[in-house]
Amino acid sequence: MDIATTATTPEGNPELADAAPNPHDHPVIRREDYAPYPWLVPETRLEFDLGLDATRVVSKLTVLRNARAPEADSIRLEGDGLELLSVKVDGEPANNWSIDDGDLILPLSADAHEIEIATEIDPSANTKLEGLYASNGMLCTQCEAEGFRRITFFPDRPDVLSTYSVRMSGPKDQFPILLCNGNMVAGGEGDDGTHWAEWHDPWPKPSYLFALVAGDLVANSSTFTTMSGREVVLNVWVRKEDLSRTDHALRSLETSMKWDEEVFGREYDLDLYNIVAVSDFNMGAMENKGLNIFNTKYVLADPETATDADFDAIEGVIAHEYFHNWSGNRITCRDWFQLSLKEGFTVLRDQLFSQDMRGEAVKRIEDVRILRLAQFPEDAGPLAHPIRPDSYREINNFYTATVYNKGAEVIRMMRVMAGTDAFRKGTDLYFQRHDGEAATCEDFIKAIEDGAGLDLKQFRLWYSQAGTPRIAARLAHDGDTATITLKQTVPPTPGQPDKQAMPIPLKIALLDPATGTHSGEQLIVLDRPEQSFTFSGHSARPVLSINRGFTAPVVIERDASGEDLMLLARHDDDPFARYEAMQELSVSHLVAASAGALADSARTAGEEGLSQAFAAILDDEALDDAMRGELLLLPTDTYLFEQMANAHGRADPGAIHAEREGLKALLAKRLADKLRAHYDRCTRVAFDYENGRGARKMKSICLNLLASSDPEEAAALAARQYKSADNMTDRQGALGVLAGLDTPERTHALLDFYNRFNDNALVIDKWFTIQALSLHPHVVEHIKALAEHPDFNIKNPNRARSLYMAFAGNPGAFHIADGEGYRMLADFILALDPINPQTAARFVTPLGKWKRIEETRSALMKSELERIAKAKLSRDTFEQVSRSLEA
Ligand code: TRP
Ligand code: ZN
Repeated sequence: MDIATTATTPEGNPELADAAPNPHDHPVIRREDYAPYPWLVPETRLEFDLGLDATRVVSKLTVLRNARAPEADSIRLEGDGLELLSVKVDGEPANNWSIDDGDLILPLSADAHEIEIATEIDPSANTKLEGLYASNGMLCTQCEAEGFRRITFFPDRPDVLSTYSVRMSGPKDQFPILLCNGNMVAGGEGDDGTHWAEWHDPWPKPSYLFALVAGDLVANSSTFTTMSGREVVLNVWVRKEDLSRTDHALRSLETSMKWDEEVFGREYDLDLYNIVAVSDFNMGAMENKGLNIFNTKYVLADPETATDADFDAIEGVIAHEYFHNWSGNRITCRDWFQLSLKEGFTVLRDQLFSQDMRGEAVKRIEDVRILRLAQFPEDAGPLAHPIRPDSYREINNFYTATVYNKGAEVIRMMRVMAGTDAFRKGTDLYFQRHDGEAATCEDFIKAIEDGAGLDLKQFRLWYSQAGTPRIAARLAHDGDTATITLKQTVPPTPGQPDKQAMPIPLKIALLDPATGTHSGEQLIVLDRPEQSFTFSGHSARPVLSINRGFTAPVVIERDASGEDLMLLARHDDDPFARYEAMQELSVSHLVAASAGALADSARTAGEEGLSQAFAAILDDEALDDAMRGELLLLPTDTYLFEQMANAHGRADPGAIHAEREGLKALLAKRLADKLRAHYDRCTRVAFDYENGRGARKMKSICLNLLASSDPEEAAALAARQYKSADNMTDRQGALGVLAGLDTPERTHALLDFYNRFNDNALVIDKWFTIQALSLHPHVVEHIKALAEHPDFNIKNPNRARSLYMAFAGNPGAFHIADGEGYRMLADFILALDPINPQTAARFVTPLGKWKRIEETRSALMKSELERIAKAKLSRDTFEQVSRSLEA
């Protein structure tokens, strides 16, 4: 018998455990090195003997030589942390195999073989939550990107497509429900209280889309009839106690299916669509074929326990995973460098869906805010990479805002340039041409070129160049002619010192300075370093409205005066442009003030201008509350940080925070009556999930502003709102304000919230987050105490993030001047890395700001990165820390 034990992960191998970090343990993988796999695997049969502490897996692979690849005399099957029990080739025990870096290597001589491999794994010990793991007594899988190799030896790469048949068996009392991809084809009772099920997925798929779930679950179900009249059973599987909070997820799935038929012509292709919610999950959700697995956060909601924003996020993520069935599953990625092929496109699809569901203007503003909060800093920092990266050590580190959100913006630009109808012709061609294939970004671009009739030759630079382009815009007026001169620069990024000019599609309009009207929007495409565009028929100097609808993911630096911005903020008919003008008014004032570059008189004038602009928004009765709320939001500290670093080389988060809070207090003081009137009006709007969302948003915005000028009044209002709240949006909004105030109401409300929702993990996550985000002077002490709270659990990603991601995003805590915040984050990363490297590595990003921050904090941050680098790290965290220090 060939019985061998191989432990290939650092945690499983005592010899590796003490080794110093060594880059050679974590080789660089390069896009240019792609080679097709030498073998095809048309069929995969898997048998699972399920147990929480020990699961046995027998895998039977049919392999054939791949005529399109160079000939090989062996096959390499990837493995990670597996205990190998036996290997057979063509029915005979094999003894000529070897293990190389965890992978199984088998010599093969003929053109076709049957390989049978038995392995054993321990799902309970799997704290990485990659592969097969236990969560709350159930078993589930997460295979993207390279988790399948932690279940069995396999060519674990997205260009090897196989048809899967799966048999699973296990104790019926523990795992009454057994789920897998595709359709259930057989099932029955076994010995000793076990039962079994067989599943077959007719669609060939890569291993990262494999999924299995076994547990004590109940479903909320419905059916959907597709455009060609097929009936599909839809199930949302959860623990019994969560069933009452699954309606919104199920409705969202139905609407997504309908929308994808209508807008992209895409029909679902199985008779069954299962969604399972699990509470231990590294990311948001996963699009496994026919069996999506979701973080509970993106499934469970009712008005008591979930905010309006939570409802929206669920709708968006359900749609995202559903849309992957075509953009991801039917057409998958050739290799992981092509990740944006499925993610960028699918994010765009889910954004367009949500725009259609709840209004284009506000959704667009929200998406741009996320881009600026998460992606712009990434593009400006040491981890910057193109949407199609050229190299990586650990692919988990490239599930980024750049690949996802900038990826979506890049495809959105194609759509803007083509127009909606021509773009649809392009996507139709893409789906038709590449159905069933593992494709590349280049395939997508070519299909859009051919189908939509666009020339994207130069546009391809968006796939290879990192960095956020900056556009300087100048307007000159002479006679009746206005001339816009645009200059683009793409800043240097790691490994890319020099950039070429990219095509940048900008929707513009020229507004009449007296009326704020214009005679038509135009699309111009800047595709050279510098370019001028002239427009006649303007007897008076017009006001430039540019990047309307945020048609390009760039930073615009325009020479607009305060009056120009006021005009745009009040009268522009493009809602995004209005929002942008309000942001710019605040940004220019706050960045100058933070840099100490504002003379007293300029400060006074700026404050006066801003007060007027905000008053005008509060007085504008034509606005709906959702949009009014957007216009009243001050730019975030993070966005101000980026703008200050762009303008001055380094940013000072302490100064930014103080100036921003100061401005809030000033505006609130001057506008107290108006804010109070809106607050009172909005309080009278009765709760209804679909309606009154704008009113609820306005309430918390007004309350937040009032809290900075009149904490006592705000505390009273917030306490009243908290006590009378009949929904989580109002309750959380009130608690967020109270958490920042040093009042007795704070303690009462936090205690009440905890006791009220003690049995609901997602709401207790909110309880941690609200405190970690607070403006309270003792927030750092609070966070330290929360880390010791019995409900804090570093092994649960939602809980870990609820405290530490919120903390890292709270400038008053994270950037505290003595560096204590940086120390706390580094300690946390070091504690989490051995448990869950994928999630730990995501916390390195905030420390990567060290190059663009003022000198004192810069040195403190850098020394924490160096301290982390000295430890024995996972590949995930090693890569992020070393890139952060290198750049
Ligand atoms: N493909 C998933 C999505 O965006 C996300 C994903 C990638 C993921 N890797 C993961 C989810 C690891 C959970 C764990 O839809
Ligand atoms: Zn996705």
